[in-house]
Amino acid sequence: MPRPVLKEVSVPRAGGYQSLTFRRRSVAPPRPSDVVVQTEAIGVNYADCVVRMGLYASAKKYVGWPITPGFEFAGRVIEVGSAVESVSVGDRVFGVTRFGAYSTHVTVPEAYVRPLPDELTVTEAAAFPTVHLTAWFALRELVRLRSGQRVLIHSAAGGVGSAAVQIARRAGCEVTGVVGSTHKVAHVEALGADHVIDKSNGALWNQVETCAPNGYQVVLDANGIATLDESYRHLAPGGRLVVYGFHSMLPRGTGRPSWPKLAWDYLRTPRFSPLNMTTENRSVLAFNLSFLFSERELLAEALSELTGWLRDGSLRAPAITTLPLDAVQEAHRRLETGQTVGKLVLIP
Ligand SMILES: NC(=O)c1ccc[n+]([C@@H]2O[C@H](COP(=O)([O-])OP(=O)(O)OC[C@H]3O[C@@H](n4cnc5c(N)ncnc54)[C@H](OP(=O)(O)O)[C@@H]3O)[C@@H](O)[C@H]2O)c1
Repeated sequence: MPRPVLKEVSVPRAGGYQSLTFRRRSVAPPRPSDVVVQTEAIGVNYADCVVRMGLYASAKKYVGWPITPGFEFAGRVIEVGSAVESVSVGDRVFGVTRFGAYSTHVTVPEAYVRPLPDELTVTEAAAFPTVHLTAWFALRELVRLRSGQRVLIHSAAGGVGSAAVQIARRAGCEVTGVVGSTHKVAHVEALGADHVIDKSNGALWNQVETCAPNGYQVVLDANGIATLDESYRHLAPGGRLVVYGFHSMLPRGTGRPSWPKLAWDYLRTPRFSPLNMTTENRSVLAFNLSFLFSERELLAEALSELTGWLRDGSLRAPAITTLPLDAVQEAHRRLETGQTVGKLVLIP
């Protein structure tokens, strides 16, 4: 039997949008524990853009060049390895992969796929895992939220931000979402945030202080240099700053990083002192999930809790904008303008 042929995005080396090229090759036969999925939808994450720019540490560590970006997908199982038990050919599934999802076919160990939940369409399911696992890890694993605590979430209308707003609200916290453009405000209000600050419309930190004069128990910050210092300063005693990205160092819509800006921002990034943190009673926590793929128990626990929240109605499906897989360059350009709301999904 001839093997199926896949079409995938291939980035031969670090670059702008033009470095998102396509190639075709045969789908390799699955190993005993592998599942082959024909994708129907592929989630796009800001991290994919960082991979393309050549600045994503785990992409360099685990793959190198060329690389096919993409952490998440949904579709139909077309082949399973001899030891696979939890899914069968024909099942509709969604899943995660450490790179390689920008493709018509994805092969992953069975632990990385789950049956498509009734509550999600195939496009919503493809957009679900990465951002919800990220927000879950920040707010359930690193931070123990208590009802009534104040939580500040930067980039609250984006993929991770939208997930985090909902998770903090369902825990009974008072949530302040920060957005960079006025058209995002209604989206964050609809997610249930108690306060939404449009930083394009006035001094960010004055508004933050008005919402929480005594500071925040938790701040989620993936901006990096633009806000890290002030995010830390606005923690209440016992407060925790969770750092999981540095997007303000990166270009907005030009596709290529400025090396002098990167170097300057790197040098200016605050270094937090454990001596000061102890006396100030404030902590800084940081993580990157792409280094944690081997933590399968954690993944299973997170996905079963998150899908449970979908079932009981306390978590909503992500807001989606779809584009064809062939428009992957446009998807990256749009995400890097910083103007998107919710998630972008590619349709093969
Ligand atoms: N550590 C991890 O494991 C992990 C996992 C997933 C994602 N992340 C990080 O979490 C952040 C959010 O990811 P996402 O996929 O959900 O993206 P997203 O929030 O949907 O989009 C990025 C948002 O960041 C803001 N932004 C600020 N400066 C920007 C710039 N120079 N270029 C583009 N956007 C800029 C914009 O929102 P505003 O202007 O409204 O702030 C923009 O909408 C990213 O930094 C990503 O790398 C980390």
